[in-house]
Amino acid sequence: ESDARGETPRHFLDIAMIEAPVLRRILDQAVRFKRAGRSASRPLAGRALALIFEKPSTRTRVSFEMAMRGLGGDVVMLSSREMQIGRGETVGDTARVLSRYVDAIMLRTDRESKLRELARHATVPVINGLTERSHPCQVMADVMTFEERHGPIAGQRVAWIGDGNNMAKSWIEAAGRFGFTLNLACPPELLPDATALDWARAQGADIRLTPDPLEAVAAVRCVVTDTWVSMGDEDAEHRHSVLAGYQVDEALMRRAAPDAIFMHCLPAHRGEEVTEGVIDGPQSVVFDEAENRLFAQQGILAWALGS
Ligand code: CP
Ligand code: NVA
Repeated sequence: ESDARGETPRHFLDIAMIEAPVLRRILDQAVRFKRAGRSASRPLAGRALALIFEKPSTRTRVSFEMAMRGLGGDVVMLSSREMQIGRGETVGDTARVLSRYVDAIMLRTDRESKLRELARHATVPVINGLTERSHPCQVMADVMTFEERHGPIAGQRVAWIGDGNNMAKSWIEAAGRFGFTLNLACPPELLPDATALDWARAQGADIRLTPDPLEAVAAVRCVVTDTWVSMGDEDAEHRHSVLAGYQVDEALMRRAAPDAIFMHCLPAHRGEEVTEGVIDGPQSVVFDEAENRLFAQQGILAWALGS
């Protein structure tokens, strides 16, 4: 379906679905919004965003609300448990109804198929606020944070350590779009999405997969990890045992470039995927990442809403 102007809405569903120049434009705009701070203009005055959560959230929820309000727009916060969708109303009908009330819809869901269905039936832009398979808004904030510290990310090296999860997939797609080298160290039991790897390599991205964290971090300017047990994972014990050798600690950080930064999308578990010394130490930029969610999402909203 298309919108009232007969155009397909500008959905933000995955990094691989957006062309590289658009992603760059969104990040440039995000930087401008950050520089403008509270004096930013209000390009989304009179527009409204619905935020639907099927899973918990702290950052995504608050940063989207403040991002939208900061641009002059309104938000409607919805939990799927309190919607008719929780009692069996179809995703398609929900999409068609919400499209009559609001100008964009963000969904955090436990099933990517629901996001795709929402986008198929909505006549307004749909934004991926995390699925079990990807988290594109987060990786936009992460690339922005990397570039604040180290300049343009193209041609630079990043290491992903641990679970080949939804964040790993978005990093892989980002490597394909932004043209950086990505070394992933994942246990053989928790490898990242093979389709995303093939896709990013076909874009020319230099992506290496190894079981060895020490090999992955050599000469990288950024080390990234994430929780060992994501929302919806039910095999916590197994994950802890296969990921035990994948903790980002001080010794591992010393094997990266001397000016390497440490990133984590949060929430974090100190003593599991990362030591307290690293996440609370001088190389950590985790709260800058969290802050940049605001501006990256302002860039995404401004693009999606065509302003
Ligand atoms: N990083 C992130 O998406 O955090 P929340 O789950 O708190 O939204
Ligand atoms: N991989 C984590 C990211 C949380 C923001 C999860 O899906 O729970």
